[in-house]
Amino acid sequence: MNASLPIAGAATRSVEARGSVVRSRHAALVRVTHWLTTLVFFALLISGGEIVLSHPRFYWGETGNVNERPWLNLHLPSSRDTVPTGYGYVLPDQNGWSRYLHFQAAWLLVATGLIYAVWGWFRGHFRRNVFPAPSDLSFRRLSVSIGQHLRFARPAEEEAWSYNVLQRIAYLAVIFILFPLMIWTGLAMSFGFDAAFPLAVRLLGGQQTARSLHFLVTALLVLFVIVHVVMIVIAGFRRRMRAMITGKMSDGTWNAGQQTAERAGAQES
Ligand code: HEM
Ligand code: HEM
Repeated sequence: MNASLPIAGAATRSVEARGSVVRSRHAALVRVTHWLTTLVFFALLISGGEIVLSHPRFYWGETGNVNERPWLNLHLPSSRDTVPTGYGYVLPDQNGWSRYLHFQAAWLLVATGLIYAVWGWFRGHFRRNVFPAPSDLSFRRLSVSIGQHLRFARPAEEEAWSYNVLQRIAYLAVIFILFPLMIWTGLAMSFGFDAAFPLAVRLLGGQQTARSLHFLVTALLVLFVIVHVVMIVIAGFRRRMRAMITGKMSDGTWNAGQQTAERAGAQES
């Protein structure tokens, strides 16, 4: 077992008995809201997938039905016999539980997101850790970072302690553009919301456009999660995951130095 000994003057630092330096990496609120959002995201994705099957075609504007030309036909079998799909069968209707789960999970997502956003804003988390520094937004810095990502290069040690510029831009887009859009387009599909706030639906271009945008933003979020997880695997899955779960991360530079010294010692003996 690792016993931790605090270092004088550094409350967040400790030295484990085995020798590696361990420091705080992620605040408890970031970790709890991150994993809750991940869980809720998958519940929304599965239930949303079931909802798509009740009418796997998408339209622009106010109305959409089997007599209109969709801009996107997924060519999937449907759980409604009113949708002519070309398949000789109708899928079992799973709309009861899937809609119920979708709406329950949606409120949990809104509540979790609000807590994270208000905390992050007022505690300076976004300013310190997520907004990129103006100097990082230069063409040169951005092209270096894009080049590193395209080569799937393992990030430098200091990036374990702070997000790189592309990571920051992606997180900002997800937090402040994609999730708010999911909530707005999700609400816009509700007839009650449309009756209470018609302008919010008209601004999107109508209820069917809201549904199409909800679906397209879902696809972008799925893409984000795939790239996000691949980048974490490249950066060092166990170490990054341990930090996002426990809040603590060991100092990789120190470990690397320690390992080199241990290897040299082993060779000498
Ligand atoms: C809906 C799904 C997800 C979203 C929206 C999401 C979003 C985010 C965001 C915004 C951050 C930065 C948090 C902050 O500092 O405030 C983050 C960090 C992180 N996420 Fe996710 N995430 C998702 C799913 C996942 C999954 C499935 C995994 C792993 C299997 C994961 C692992 C991590 C880790 C390890 C970090 C810390 C990154 C680092 O140390 O470089 N996330 N995520
Ligand atoms: C990341 C979060 C979310 C994901 C991945 C997601 C995904 C989906 C998908 C794939 C559909 C099926 C599209 C269709 O065929 O109509 C759907 C439908 C829907 N979603 Fe979401 N959604 C999310 C968040 C939300 C939120 C926050 C709300 C409400 C505030 C919401 C409300 C709705 C509504 C009202 C429908 C249509 C249900 C129906 O036709 O009965 N969603 N969602």
